[in-house]
Amino acid sequence: MIVDWLINLLLLSVGLLGNAWLWPAYVNRLYSLPVPSERLDRFRILHDVAMFVVPILLLGSLVQIRFSHPEGTLAAGIVLANAGWWTLPWALSLVGFGGLILTITTRLLRAQPPGYELATREVVDVEQELGYRPQGEGPHQRMLKVPGNQVFTFERNEKKFSFPNLHKDLNELTILHLSDLHFIGTLDRSYFEMVCERAASWNPDLIVFTGDLLDRQELISWLPGTLGKLRAALGCYYILGNHDWHLNCGPIRQQLLELGWKDCAGRVQEVNYHKGKIQIGGDERPWMGKAPEFDTSDENAFKLLLSHTPDNFSWAQQQGVDLMLSGHNHGGQVVLPIIGPLYSPSRYGVRYAGGEFYSSPTTMHVSRGVSGKHPLRINCRPEITLIHLIKSTESIENIETERESKAVLVPVN
Ligand SMILES: [Fe+2]
Repeated sequence: MIVDWLINLLLLSVGLLGNAWLWPAYVNRLYSLPVPSERLDRFRILHDVAMFVVPILLLGSLVQIRFSHPEGTLAAGIVLANAGWWTLPWALSLVGFGGLILTITTRLLRAQPPGYELATREVVDVEQELGYRPQGEGPHQRMLKVPGNQVFTFERNEKKFSFPNLHKDLNELTILHLSDLHFIGTLDRSYFEMVCERAASWNPDLIVFTGDLLDRQELISWLPGTLGKLRAALGCYYILGNHDWHLNCGPIRQQLLELGWKDCAGRVQEVNYHKGKIQIGGDERPWMGKAPEFDTSDENAFKLLLSHTPDNFSWAQQQGVDLMLSGHNHGGQVVLPIIGPLYSPSRYGVRYAGGEFYSSPTTMHVSRGVSGKHPLRINCRPEITLIHLIKSTESIENIETERESKAVLVPVN
């Protein structure tokens, strides 16, 4: 009898987990679409209802069967073997559980990009360093009170990636990757000023921003004190994201232009560094513009793609992109033990929520971003990243020599 109850409990647990996975997976696909969020919110109601109603139906089916079949306690067997009103909620939940197992397995088997190494990780506690909490008047204030919320901190990560075809003059070049600042006012300007100050202290060769700058148009006034303070020898390049798309992008692009940032939306900008060449393409699809046209005949050029969403990963592989930098998914914002993230607005669900990915010939880095519209980060700290490009055939000694000599090199343009 105890075994029967344990089997019932096991089936109920599988059903609850499957349901808790299925509806976020639906919402993830929904919010990957280039449709205004007000319209998408209407379709989200299905998620909101099912997340609470289906567990009641699952439990109810087991209880009903248990009491209508006093001869046996194995309600789980009856649920699975006999059709009834419970068939639909159980079928959906078991599909969700299958998806969960598949996702966890895919994550565990994920191949790391060639030569990838997390060189350093530094956690910056902004509240502690400022001596006060950088909290503004923006929305969702209650989320700031959630225990374990990491929004007032950020990681300062240095990551190395190897590329066999990298021109030797680009060896050890550094790229600062910033993404998803989401100025909305809940985190005060001083938080973002510290993020940019610590990013600038790396003294990167090239700086890129991969979209979602603002959630409130008037906070464009924060740009001079944040992104406007950043400088790099090879320049600062950006694209915008879906949250910017909801606003008036013209003044945002104009302000960034005045601050020295170059717009890569739907185009390719070329950067030369001695005999090394970088093509920087920008992709704001599916929300804005067109795909950038790389010069695929130039095999010596390092192809760098800035794409707000990692959903363009397959397209990047087809174009022979060497390195793709993305954001958008914020790492999932809440990451559960074993299960991982649940919410990630991508047509691939949580697969590209954040981290490092590789599919020949493209390495992809998906930043967890600096902030978000909703100020909640659990086990998913905001990050800024300094990327080191490494020529994979070089020995460590050669790299050290290159690094020392680089100090006297100047960019061609
Ligand atoms: Fe974002």
